[in-house]
Amino acid sequence: MENKTIYILAIESSCDDTSAAVLKNKKVLSNIVASQKIHQEYGGVVPELASRAHQQNIVPVVHQALMRANIDKKLLSAIAFTRGPGLLGSLLVGTSFAKSLALGLHIPLIEVNHMQAHILAHFIEGQNYRPPSFPFLALTLSGGHTQIVLVKDYFDMEILGETLDDAVGEAFDKSAKILGLPYPGGPLIDTYAQLGNPTAFPFPKPKVGGLNFSFSGLKTSILYFIQKETKTNPDFILENRNDICASIQHTIINILIDKIKEAVKYARVKQIAIGGGVSANSGIRNALKSAEKELGWHTYLPKLEYCTDNAAMIGITGYLKFRENRLTNQNISAKARYKI
Ligand code: KG4
Ligand code: ZN
Repeated sequence: MENKTIYILAIESSCDDTSAAVLKNKKVLSNIVASQKIHQEYGGVVPELASRAHQQNIVPVVHQALMRANIDKKLLSAIAFTRGPGLLGSLLVGTSFAKSLALGLHIPLIEVNHMQAHILAHFIEGQNYRPPSFPFLALTLSGGHTQIVLVKDYFDMEILGETLDDAVGEAFDKSAKILGLPYPGGPLIDTYAQLGNPTAFPFPKPKVGGLNFSFSGLKTSILYFIQKETKTNPDFILENRNDICASIQHTIINILIDKIKEAVKYARVKQIAIGGGVSANSGIRNALKSAEKELGWHTYLPKLEYCTDNAAMIGITGYLKFRENRLTNQNISAKARYKI
């Protein structure tokens, strides 16, 4: 099987991005992502609207992925799809579509765990770095997840820690909302933070044992702080926007870096692979670069298009599963909660 060319069509629909990709072995031939704009008006993802939008997007997105890859459906070796975790209504759209297409084309179906896929995105070819060797630590940081995972092999992963409440992306987005910034506010906090003083306003760090995270307390302390300051100065946010953003970002980065340090000590592994939309954050990137120099870590950051939700990462996982004959049968269903 190793010498045969394998073409995988992959489908991702776990949250608010409808995506399809075509891979030729480990290489991405196309990776189309339709981001749903509708949620911006509501300040967060509305599940009902997300599944409707997936329903509308899925056919054109898959069509475009095949066109861009310039291959005929008949060449496909298998269809990979996100089974979970995610929003059930959203997952059902991708799952049903993948099952029907595989059935119609008489080719195998491969179910993929979205969180495993975020990690295995490091094995996509053409990223200007060699993938990490096993074992390594993977940190998935996004609007939906925050996990530290010990990766012993492609399909042998152990969650060492995860968030007990909000995900790190939510911590960014909810803080941004308190400041009156539009959704998703993470990238805006990052932009303003670069112009501000990170130690202007100290926020408390949560006390959570082990390698778990908690971000909901931070959100509350930011809310109380802003309420208190704007009582005496209604223009407080306007006048201090950059310093507030820099201080929030600084606190979040410290929380993350402290936990990675603990994980490195615990697992005795210094290879750290990052994924998820929040890994676009300039502060996190800089902190990791400094840690490479100061602590001897080796860090891996995939191309941004493979960090945020995308079908290419589902495709590489599908390819790795296909190679090991880890196929799925037609009676499979989507799973909103699905452990690695
Ligand atoms: O992985 P992703 O695209 O979607 C999922 O949530 O699964 O991640 C989106 C999250 C949002 O919370 C967004 O605010 C955050 O990533 N984000 C950032 C930055 N870019 C995206 N947060 C902080 N700084 C950024 N530069
Ligand atoms: Zn994700």
